[in-house]
Amino acid sequence: MKKNLFMIAAAGLAGMLTSHAAVQTTDFDDIKLYTLQNKAGTTVKITNYGATVTSILTADRNGTMADIALGYNDVSGYMNAVDKPYFGSIVGRYGNRIAKGQFSIDGKKYKLATTNGANHLHGGVIGFDKVVWDAKVAGSHSVRFHYLAKDGEEGYPGNLDINVTYTLTDANELKIDYLATTDQKTPVNLTNHTYFNLKGEGEGTILGHELMIHAKGYTPVDSGLIPTGKIEPVTGTPFDFTTAKAIGRDIGKKDQQLEYGLGYDHNWVLDKGGKTGQLTLAATLYEPTSGRFMEVFTREPGLQFYCGNFLAGNLKGKSGKTYLHRGGLCLETQHYPDSPNQPAFPSTILAPGAQYQTTTVYKFSTKK
Ligand code: GLA
Repeated sequence: MKKNLFMIAAAGLAGMLTSHAAVQTTDFDDIKLYTLQNKAGTTVKITNYGATVTSILTADRNGTMADIALGYNDVSGYMNAVDKPYFGSIVGRYGNRIAKGQFSIDGKKYKLATTNGANHLHGGVIGFDKVVWDAKVAGSHSVRFHYLAKDGEEGYPGNLDINVTYTLTDANELKIDYLATTDQKTPVNLTNHTYFNLKGEGEGTILGHELMIHAKGYTPVDSGLIPTGKIEPVTGTPFDFTTAKAIGRDIGKKDQQLEYGLGYDHNWVLDKGGKTGQLTLAATLYEPTSGRFMEVFTREPGLQFYCGNFLAGNLKGKSGKTYLHRGGLCLETQHYPDSPNQPAFPSTILAPGAQYQTTTVYKFSTKK
Protein backbone atom coordinates (compact mmCIF):
# COMPACT_ATOMS: atom_id res chain seq x y z
CA MET A 1 0.00 0.00 0.00
CA LYS A 2 1.62 3.26 -1.14
CA LYS A 3 -0.11 5.38 1.44
CA ASN A 4 2.50 8.10 1.51
CA LEU A 5 1.93 8.92 -2.13
CA PHE A 6 -1.38 10.39 -1.19
CA MET A 7 -0.66 14.07 -1.76
CA ILE A 8 -4.00 15.67 -1.33
CA ALA A 9 -2.80 19.25 -1.61
CA ALA A 10 -1.58 18.59 -5.17
CA ALA A 11 -2.98 21.61 -6.94
CA GLY A 12 -3.09 19.92 -10.33
CA LEU A 13 -6.00 17.59 -9.68
CA ALA A 14 -8.88 19.98 -10.27
CA GLY A 15 -7.25 21.20 -13.45
CA MET A 16 -7.20 17.67 -14.84
CA LEU A 17 -10.97 17.54 -14.92
CA THR A 18 -12.34 17.89 -18.40
CA SER A 19 -16.03 18.36 -17.66
CA HIS A 20 -17.96 20.08 -14.94
CA ALA A 21 -19.88 18.15 -12.32
CA ALA A 22 -17.27 15.47 -12.77
CA VAL A 23 -15.85 12.95 -10.39
CA GLN A 24 -12.13 12.31 -10.61
CA THR A 25 -10.61 9.25 -9.01
CA THR A 26 -6.97 9.13 -8.00
CA ASP A 27 -5.93 5.64 -7.08
CA PHE A 28 -3.13 4.73 -4.67
CA ASP A 29 -3.85 1.02 -4.20
CA ASP A 30 -6.58 0.73 -1.57
CA ILE A 31 -6.41 4.36 -0.47
CA LYS A 32 -8.23 6.53 -2.95
CA LEU A 33 -8.88 10.21 -3.37
CA TYR A 34 -12.05 11.42 -5.08
CA THR A 35 -12.44 14.90 -6.49
CA LEU A 36 -15.92 16.31 -7.00
CA GLN A 37 -16.29 19.51 -8.98
CA ASN A 38 -19.40 21.44 -9.94
CA LYS A 39 -20.20 24.11 -12.54
CA ALA A 40 -19.15 26.91 -10.19
CA GLY A 41 -15.71 25.31 -9.86
CA THR A 42 -16.32 24.38 -6.24
CA THR A 43 -14.08 21.39 -5.66
CA VAL A 44 -14.33 18.87 -2.85
CA LYS A 45 -11.79 16.11 -2.23
CA ILE A 46 -12.65 13.05 -0.20
CA THR A 47 -10.61 9.98 0.64
CA ASN A 48 -11.86 6.54 1.61
CA TYR A 49 -9.50 6.63 4.60
CA GLY A 50 -12.05 7.58 7.25
CA ALA A 51 -14.44 8.70 4.46
CA THR A 52 -12.64 11.99 5.08
CA VAL A 53 -13.23 15.34 3.38
CA THR A 54 -9.69 16.55 2.79
CA SER A 55 -10.35 19.78 0.94
CA ILE A 56 -13.20 22.16 0.01
CA LEU A 57 -12.32 24.82 -2.53
CA THR A 58 -14.89 27.63 -2.74
CA ALA A 59 -14.99 31.16 -4.15
CA ASP A 60 -14.96 34.30 -2.04
CA ARG A 61 -17.10 37.34 -2.96
CA ASN A 62 -14.55 38.29 -5.67
CA GLY A 63 -14.39 34.81 -7.14
CA THR A 64 -11.01 33.97 -5.61
CA MET A 65 -10.84 30.32 -4.57
CA ALA A 66 -9.53 29.09 -1.22
CA ASP A 67 -9.54 25.78 0.59
CA ILE A 68 -11.85 26.28 3.59
CA ALA A 69 -11.31 22.87 5.24
CA LEU A 70 -8.43 22.05 7.58
CA GLY A 71 -6.45 18.88 6.96
CA TYR A 72 -3.19 17.14 6.18
CA ASN A 73 -1.46 16.79 2.81
CA ASP A 74 -0.74 13.11 3.19
CA VAL A 75 -2.76 10.15 4.41
CA SER A 76 -0.09 9.46 7.03
CA GLY A 77 -1.14 12.75 8.64
CA TYR A 78 -4.61 11.32 9.16
CA MET A 79 -3.27 7.95 10.29
CA ASN A 80 -0.80 9.32 12.83
CA ALA A 81 -2.86 12.21 14.14
CA VAL A 82 -1.68 11.92 17.74
CA ASP A 83 -3.57 15.03 18.72
CA LYS A 84 -6.75 13.45 17.29
CA PRO A 85 -8.46 16.42 15.69
CA TYR A 86 -10.55 14.13 13.43
CA PHE A 87 -10.12 16.58 10.52
CA GLY A 88 -12.89 16.05 7.95
CA SER A 89 -13.68 12.44 8.90
CA ILE A 90 -16.84 10.52 9.47
CA VAL A 91 -16.91 9.74 13.17
CA GLY A 92 -18.72 6.78 14.69
CA ARG A 93 -20.08 4.32 15.54
CA TYR A 94 -21.06 6.90 18.14
CA GLY A 95 -19.94 10.44 17.37
CA ASN A 96 -19.40 12.44 20.59
CA ARG A 97 -19.24 11.09 24.14
CA ILE A 98 -20.68 8.16 26.04
CA ALA A 99 -20.24 8.55 29.79
CA LYS A 100 -17.67 6.15 31.29
CA GLY A 101 -17.80 4.18 28.03
CA GLN A 102 -20.79 2.25 29.33
CA PHE A 103 -24.38 1.69 28.36
CA SER A 104 -27.02 -1.03 28.59
CA ILE A 105 -29.50 -2.32 26.06
CA ASP A 106 -32.35 -4.56 27.24
CA GLY A 107 -30.51 -5.08 30.54
CA LYS A 108 -27.23 -6.17 28.94
CA LYS A 109 -24.19 -4.04 29.80
CA TYR A 110 -21.63 -2.98 27.20
CA LYS A 111 -18.18 -1.59 27.95
CA LEU A 112 -16.30 0.62 25.49
CA ALA A 113 -12.81 2.09 25.59
CA THR A 114 -12.49 5.32 27.54
CA THR A 115 -10.60 7.55 25.13
CA ASN A 116 -11.43 11.00 26.49
CA GLY A 117 -10.63 11.15 30.20
CA ALA A 118 -13.17 8.89 31.90
CA ASN A 119 -15.41 8.84 28.83
CA HIS A 120 -15.72 7.28 25.39
CA LEU A 121 -15.37 9.66 22.41
CA HIS A 122 -16.00 9.34 18.66
CA GLY A 123 -16.23 5.56 18.39
CA GLY A 124 -13.17 4.49 20.34
CA VAL A 125 -9.54 3.66 19.64
CA ILE A 126 -10.08 2.76 15.97
CA GLY A 127 -13.25 4.62 15.07
CA PHE A 128 -14.70 5.08 11.60
CA ASP A 129 -12.20 7.89 10.97
CA LYS A 130 -9.36 5.36 11.16
CA VAL A 131 -10.63 2.64 8.84
CA VAL A 132 -10.43 2.19 5.08
CA TRP A 133 -13.93 2.33 3.55
CA ASP A 134 -14.97 0.72 0.27
CA ALA A 135 -15.70 3.43 -2.25
CA LYS A 136 -17.67 3.73 -5.41
CA VAL A 137 -18.38 6.58 -7.78
CA ALA A 138 -22.18 6.88 -7.69
CA GLY A 139 -23.24 9.02 -10.62
CA SER A 140 -21.76 12.21 -11.98
CA HIS A 141 -21.89 14.14 -8.71
CA SER A 142 -21.46 11.54 -5.97
CA VAL A 143 -19.14 9.13 -4.24
CA ARG A 144 -20.47 6.43 -1.94
CA PHE A 145 -18.45 4.94 0.93
CA HIS A 146 -19.32 1.66 2.55
CA TYR A 147 -18.07 0.10 5.78
CA LEU A 148 -19.15 -2.96 7.71
CA ALA A 149 -18.42 -2.49 11.41
CA LYS A 150 -18.27 -5.94 12.93
CA ASP A 151 -20.21 -7.16 15.93
CA GLY A 152 -17.98 -6.41 18.96
CA GLU A 153 -15.79 -3.92 17.11
CA GLU A 154 -14.72 -1.28 19.67
CA GLY A 155 -17.09 -3.03 22.10
CA TYR A 156 -20.33 -2.17 20.27
CA PRO A 157 -22.96 -4.84 19.64
CA GLY A 158 -24.13 -5.84 16.17
CA ASN A 159 -22.79 -5.89 12.63
CA LEU A 160 -23.46 -2.36 11.43
CA ASP A 161 -23.60 -1.90 7.67
CA ILE A 162 -23.03 1.74 6.75
CA ASN A 163 -23.22 3.74 3.54
CA VAL A 164 -22.19 7.38 3.44
CA THR A 165 -22.74 9.21 0.16
CA TYR A 166 -21.21 12.59 -0.58
CA THR A 167 -22.79 14.64 -3.37
CA LEU A 168 -21.66 18.02 -4.69
CA THR A 169 -24.58 19.72 -6.42
CA ASP A 170 -24.53 22.58 -8.91
CA ALA A 171 -26.38 24.57 -6.26
CA ASN A 172 -23.06 24.51 -4.34
CA GLU A 173 -24.25 22.06 -1.72
CA LEU A 174 -22.11 19.34 -0.21
CA LYS A 175 -24.73 16.79 0.75
CA ILE A 176 -23.97 13.88 3.06
CA ASP A 177 -26.45 11.00 3.12
CA TYR A 178 -26.05 8.37 5.82
CA LEU A 179 -27.68 4.96 5.77
CA ALA A 180 -27.09 2.10 8.22
CA THR A 181 -28.63 -1.20 9.24
CA THR A 182 -27.79 -3.63 12.03
CA ASP A 183 -28.41 -7.23 13.05
CA GLN A 184 -28.51 -6.41 16.80
CA LYS A 185 -29.66 -3.38 18.73
CA THR A 186 -26.84 -0.84 18.85
CA PRO A 187 -26.27 2.87 19.41
CA VAL A 188 -25.51 4.80 16.20
CA ASN A 189 -24.63 8.48 15.91
CA LEU A 190 -22.72 9.41 12.77
CA THR A 191 -21.42 12.83 11.86
CA ASN A 192 -18.81 14.58 9.78
CA HIS A 193 -15.96 16.34 11.55
CA THR A 194 -14.83 18.93 9.00
CA TYR A 195 -13.12 22.00 10.47
CA PHE A 196 -14.13 25.11 8.54
CA ASN A 197 -12.26 28.36 8.27
CA LEU A 198 -14.10 30.44 5.69
CA LYS A 199 -11.08 32.72 5.24
CA GLY A 200 -9.10 29.66 4.16
CA GLU A 201 -7.31 26.92 6.07
CA GLY A 202 -4.40 28.32 8.03
CA GLU A 203 -5.65 31.92 7.71
CA GLY A 204 -5.87 32.80 11.39
CA THR A 205 -8.66 32.07 13.84
CA ILE A 206 -12.41 31.72 13.38
CA LEU A 207 -13.24 34.22 16.15
CA GLY A 208 -14.43 36.83 13.62
CA HIS A 209 -16.79 34.39 11.89
CA GLU A 210 -20.43 35.22 12.53
CA LEU A 211 -22.46 32.21 13.57
CA MET A 212 -26.20 31.70 13.86
CA ILE A 213 -27.51 28.50 15.43
CA HIS A 214 -31.19 27.83 15.02
CA ALA A 215 -31.62 26.69 18.62
CA LYS A 216 -33.25 28.16 21.69
CA GLY A 217 -31.77 25.51 23.95
CA TYR A 218 -28.58 23.56 24.57
CA THR A 219 -27.45 20.66 26.72
CA PRO A 220 -25.14 21.89 29.52
CA VAL A 221 -22.37 19.50 30.51
CA ASP A 222 -20.26 18.43 33.46
CA SER A 223 -16.49 18.96 33.53
CA GLY A 224 -16.01 15.84 31.34
CA LEU A 225 -18.40 17.31 28.71
CA ILE A 226 -21.15 14.80 29.50
CA PRO A 227 -24.63 16.39 29.42
CA THR A 228 -26.27 16.86 32.78
CA GLY A 229 -29.52 15.72 31.13
CA LYS A 230 -31.12 19.16 31.27
CA ILE A 231 -32.00 21.29 28.28
CA GLU A 232 -31.35 24.92 29.22
CA PRO A 233 -32.44 28.04 27.35
CA VAL A 234 -29.63 29.94 25.64
CA THR A 235 -31.25 33.33 26.37
CA GLY A 236 -28.98 35.61 28.35
CA THR A 237 -25.98 33.27 28.06
CA PRO A 238 -22.89 33.20 25.79
CA PHE A 239 -24.63 30.23 24.10
CA ASP A 240 -27.25 32.46 22.48
CA PHE A 241 -26.55 32.32 18.74
CA THR A 242 -30.23 32.73 17.77
CA THR A 243 -29.14 35.95 16.04
CA ALA A 244 -25.83 35.82 14.18
CA LYS A 245 -22.89 37.05 16.25
CA ALA A 246 -19.11 36.87 16.07
CA ILE A 247 -17.87 33.70 17.76
CA GLY A 248 -15.29 35.76 19.64
CA ARG A 249 -17.85 38.13 21.12
CA ASP A 250 -18.79 36.20 24.25
CA ILE A 251 -16.21 33.41 24.25
CA GLY A 252 -14.11 35.15 26.92
CA LYS A 253 -17.02 35.75 29.28
CA LYS A 254 -16.89 34.22 32.72
CA ASP A 255 -19.14 31.22 32.43
CA GLN A 256 -18.77 27.76 33.93
CA GLN A 257 -19.93 26.01 30.74
CA LEU A 258 -17.31 27.88 28.68
CA GLU A 259 -14.73 26.90 31.29
CA TYR A 260 -15.67 23.23 31.01
CA GLY A 261 -15.54 23.36 27.20
CA LEU A 262 -12.42 25.56 27.12
CA GLY A 263 -14.66 27.61 24.85
CA TYR A 264 -17.61 26.36 22.80
CA ASP A 265 -17.76 22.56 22.64
CA HIS A 266 -21.45 21.89 23.26
CA ASN A 267 -24.58 20.42 21.76
CA TRP A 268 -27.39 22.77 20.72
CA VAL A 269 -30.96 21.48 20.62
CA LEU A 270 -32.12 22.49 17.17
CA ASP A 271 -35.50 24.18 16.71
CA LYS A 272 -37.14 21.75 14.32
CA GLY A 273 -40.47 23.62 14.33
CA GLY A 274 -42.49 20.41 14.37
CA LYS A 275 -40.38 18.95 11.55
CA THR A 276 -38.65 16.18 13.51
CA GLY A 277 -36.48 14.12 11.20
CA GLN A 278 -36.82 16.55 8.31
CA LEU A 279 -34.12 18.60 6.65
CA THR A 280 -34.18 22.04 8.30
CA LEU A 281 -31.74 24.92 8.68
CA ALA A 282 -29.45 24.32 11.66
CA ALA A 283 -26.86 27.07 11.36
CA THR A 284 -25.33 29.77 9.19
CA LEU A 285 -21.73 30.92 9.19
CA TYR A 286 -20.41 34.14 7.64
CA GLU A 287 -16.87 35.39 7.33
CA PRO A 288 -16.97 39.17 6.70
CA THR A 289 -13.56 39.72 5.05
CA SER A 290 -13.98 37.05 2.34
CA GLY A 291 -17.77 37.26 2.16
CA ARG A 292 -18.02 33.47 2.31
CA PHE A 293 -21.31 32.25 3.72
CA MET A 294 -22.27 28.71 4.63
CA GLU A 295 -25.65 27.24 5.58
CA VAL A 296 -26.01 23.93 7.38
CA PHE A 297 -29.16 21.85 7.01
CA THR A 298 -29.80 18.59 8.79
CA ARG A 299 -32.39 15.97 9.72
CA GLU A 300 -30.63 15.54 13.08
CA PRO A 301 -32.01 16.99 16.32
CA GLY A 302 -28.67 18.37 17.56
CA LEU A 303 -25.57 20.29 16.55
CA GLN A 304 -22.22 20.11 18.32
CA PHE A 305 -20.47 23.42 17.78
CA TYR A 306 -16.80 22.93 18.56
CA CYS A 307 -14.52 25.90 17.93
CA GLY A 308 -11.12 24.21 17.78
CA ASN A 309 -10.23 24.70 21.45
CA PHE A 310 -7.83 21.76 21.33
CA LEU A 311 -5.88 23.09 18.37
CA ALA A 312 -2.76 24.19 20.17
CA GLY A 313 -1.03 26.15 17.42
CA ASN A 314 1.64 23.47 16.99
CA LEU A 315 0.28 21.78 13.89
CA LYS A 316 1.12 22.70 10.31
CA GLY A 317 -1.66 21.99 7.85
CA LYS A 318 -1.65 20.75 4.27
CA SER A 319 -0.25 23.95 2.77
CA GLY A 320 2.39 24.42 5.47
CA LYS A 321 0.48 27.07 7.38
CA THR A 322 0.14 26.80 11.15
CA TYR A 323 -3.30 26.00 12.50
CA LEU A 324 -3.78 28.40 15.38
CA HIS A 325 -5.73 27.77 18.55
CA ARG A 326 -9.35 28.13 17.30
CA GLY A 327 -8.12 28.13 13.71
CA GLY A 328 -11.14 26.09 12.56
CA LEU A 329 -14.61 25.16 13.75
CA CYS A 330 -16.83 22.12 13.45
CA LEU A 331 -20.60 22.10 13.08
CA GLU A 332 -21.29 18.43 13.83
CA THR A 333 -24.90 17.51 13.11
CA GLN A 334 -25.91 14.66 15.38
CA HIS A 335 -28.04 13.27 18.18
CA TYR A 336 -27.18 14.57 21.63
CA PRO A 337 -24.06 13.33 23.44
CA ASP A 338 -24.43 10.37 25.80
CA SER A 339 -27.94 9.58 24.54
CA PRO A 340 -27.57 5.85 25.34
CA ASN A 341 -27.50 6.84 29.04
CA GLN A 342 -30.04 9.68 28.85
CA PRO A 343 -33.58 8.29 28.58
CA ALA A 344 -35.06 11.79 28.07
CA PHE A 345 -32.96 12.44 24.93
CA PRO A 346 -34.09 11.24 21.47
CA SER A 347 -33.02 7.62 21.13
CA THR A 348 -29.89 6.63 19.22
CA ILE A 349 -30.60 2.89 19.38
CA LEU A 350 -30.96 1.24 15.98
CA ALA A 351 -32.80 -2.09 15.92
CA PRO A 352 -32.64 -4.91 13.35
CA GLY A 353 -35.14 -4.30 10.56
CA ALA A 354 -35.00 -0.52 11.02
CA GLN A 355 -32.91 1.89 8.99
CA TYR A 356 -30.68 4.67 10.25
CA GLN A 357 -31.15 7.33 7.62
CA THR A 358 -30.07 10.93 7.89
CA THR A 359 -28.82 13.81 5.75
CA THR A 360 -26.72 16.89 6.30
CA VAL A 361 -26.08 19.64 3.74
CA TYR A 362 -23.37 22.29 3.81
CA LYS A 363 -24.29 24.98 1.29
CA PHE A 364 -21.69 27.50 0.13
CA SER A 365 -22.29 31.01 -1.19
CA THR A 366 -21.10 34.57 -0.63
CA LYS A 367 -22.56 37.81 0.65
CA LYS A 368 -21.54 41.36 -0.29
C1 GLA B 1 -15.43 16.92 19.24
C2 GLA B 1 -15.41 17.04 20.71
C3 GLA B 1 -14.28 17.88 21.15
C4 GLA B 1 -12.97 17.37 20.59
C5 GLA B 1 -13.07 17.27 19.10
C6 GLA B 1 -11.83 16.67 18.51
O1 GLA B 1 -15.92 18.04 18.64
O2 GLA B 1 -16.63 17.51 21.23
O3 GLA B 1 -14.22 17.92 22.54
O4 GLA B 1 -12.68 16.12 21.13
O5 GLA B 1 -14.17 16.51 18.74
O6 GLA B 1 -10.68 17.29 18.95
